[in-house]
This record gives sequence, structure tokens and C-alpha cells, in this order.
Amino acid sequence: MTVLRANDIYKFYHSEEDETLALKGVSIEIKSGEMVALMGPSGSGKSTLLSCLVGLDEPDGGYVELHGQRITRRPETERAAMRAKHIGILKQSGNLLNHLTVEGNILLQMRLANKYNKEHLNQLIDMVGLSHRKKAYPSQLSGGEAARVGLAVALSKEPSILLADEPTGEVDEETEKRILDLFDQQRTKGGAVLIATHSSMLGSRADRIVHLNDGRIVE
Ligand SMILES: Nc1ncnc2c1ncn2[C@@H]1O[C@H](COP(=O)(O)OP(=O)(O)OP(=O)(O)O)[C@@H](O)[C@H]1O
Ligand SMILES: [Mg+2]
Repeated sequence: MTVLRANDIYKFYHSEEDETLALKGVSIEIKSGEMVALMGPSGSGKSTLLSCLVGLDEPDGGYVELHGQRITRRPETERAAMRAKHIGILKQSGNLLNHLTVEGNILLQMRLANKYNKEHLNQLIDMVGLSHRKKAYPSQLSGGEAARVGLAVALSKEPSILLADEPTGEVDEETEKRILDLFDQQRTKGGAVLIATHSSMLGSRADRIVHLNDGRIVE
């Protein structure tokens, strides 16, 4: 079953006279139970594509469908509702609310998605290896720890698709393995996973790799 489909996505950035053609006609399809790695050099458009796919950014051309429903060019409130229901998002940074603890951040996301479950909450914290840091605030965490909490937050609503941007950018090998196990669980449960990454370990565990270069998908 197709969870997410993007058709011919274009994205341009303008600043003064400069124009950056970040995405030049990208089409991609992600099915349930599938883990796809999005790879390519720095600046090739990975983060831009993820933002367009989850509706945090509007493409300048093309459209995105989530479970067959168009998410592109809709009022933000509608896009937000679709995101809240279906999509787990792990950005490169800024995934946590600073005034809430580790536990509080996950709890809030669960409540927003109407999926509060104490056991699942503790399980998630355990799986990302932060049981001893439950009461810590984001400012008290290392970059890698914050990334892991961000992942727990993204998974807490049991999304049908998880999109992660460099989830293992700041973590050691042991933690990378642990994060990979979480992705595996997500796909085994029938959820889809799309990860932008430079990690060859992550790439080798994916069902397939989509290569992006200069805003285009290459073979
Ligand atoms: N807000 C912005 N304004 C202007 N240009 C931008 C903006 N965001 C990204 N770009 C440009 O768009 C292109 C694609 O950037 P993007 O962040 O999508 O790359 P990336 O593949 O995620 O790179 P990395 O691997 O370094 O994270 C780059 O040339 C970048 O400089
Ligand atoms: Mg990026």
C-alpha cells in the first residue's frame, strides 16, 4: 500500500538576485513496511524534499499525497491535522520543546495524537536508552541524546510513516544500531520509513536507496 507519493516536485529558494533550484522534478513513492534511505551530497536537496513531503514547506511545483489524499496547497490547519494523524517527523534539529522534560515532550506528542499510553512511553524512553534522563530538560542533553529523544517523540504517536533527517548524524555506533533497531520495528509493524542520511550503515539496512544529486533523483 502506498503511504506517501510525491509527483514532480520543484522547489526554488530566492534571496536577493540569487535563485537556488533546490528540487528539479522529484518523484518518489513510499509503501507501508518499507524503509527507504535518501542519500546524496550535502546541498543536494534532501532536507528540502523532506520538508515538502511532510507539508512543512510548500513545493513550487508538483504535489504530494498522503494515503491518497493531497497534502500540498491546503490551508496550514488542514496540513497540520494530516501530519498530526499520520506522520512522525525527526528534523535535523529543533525537535524538542525546551520547557518540557524528556518525558514531557513525549507525553505531549502522545496526548496530541490521542495515543497516551504510559507503558509505551516508558518503553520508548527505554529503547532510546534514556531511562536515567527522563526528568532532564533538552538544554541538559547532549546532541546525540536530544536526537534520540526526538526519535522517541516522533514514534510516540505510532505514525504510518516516519521521516527522519540525519537521525544518526551526532551519535556513536552503539546508538546508531539502537536507532536502526527502532526503524526496523517501525517497518515490521507495517509503518513506512524515509531517512535522509550520509550513513552507509543506515543505507545498507534500507530496503532501497534513493540517490539525490543537485535536486534530481539519479540512478
Ligand atoms: N532557506 C533556504 N534559503 C535559501 N537556500 C536554501 C534554503 N534551504 C536550503 N537552501 C539551499 O537549497 C539546496 C538544498 O539544501 P538542503 O538543505 O535541502 O540540502 P541537503 O541535501 O539536506 O544537505 P545536507 O546533507 O548538508 O543536510 C542547497 O543549495 C541549500 O543551500
Ligand atoms: Mg539536510
